Amino acid sequence: MDLERSITSAIASAPDAQTALSEAVRLLKAHRPRYTWVGVYLLAGDELVLGPYLGKPSPHTRIPLNRGICGAAASQKATIVVDDVNSDPRYLACSLETKSEIVVPIMQGDRVLGEIDIDSDQAAAFGEADRELLEEVARALAGKL
Ligand code: SME
Repeated sequence: MDLERSITSAIASAPDAQTALSEAVRLLKAHRPRYTWVGVYLLAGDELVLGPYLGKPSPHTRIPLNRGICGAAASQKATIVVDDVNSDPRYLACSLETKSEIVVPIMQGDRVLGEIDIDSDQAAAFGEADRELLEEVARALAGKL
């Protein structure tokens, strides 16, 4: 079974939203070695609050919508891929080793529920296949939240 199907079926069979989020994070981190930090933020009011994650602890446990690449993706309601975080003025550093990042909103219709955030120690680590995989995972998670 490919990774997308493994994750969407784990999400579908999860007993609750928290398990679905944790399983998605676990499977992504386990199967994509270049995904150095994998986490989910959930929108609470006008802040993104860190949920399940794997990787080094992040200082950014609450991110206002007007800050960071995370805030930008939620505000724009669109996936953001940053090939070189150090040349992006929006970037909020989590680890000095991080070189690239992808943030994929979890949407129900027009409403943002949260987002998947992934950092890589490799520059330009996220291509079209990563975007498609993560957008599919975000759609599956939206059905559970
Ligand atoms: N880099 C993110 C902050 C979250 S950490 O990467 C976990 C940002 O710029 O919004």
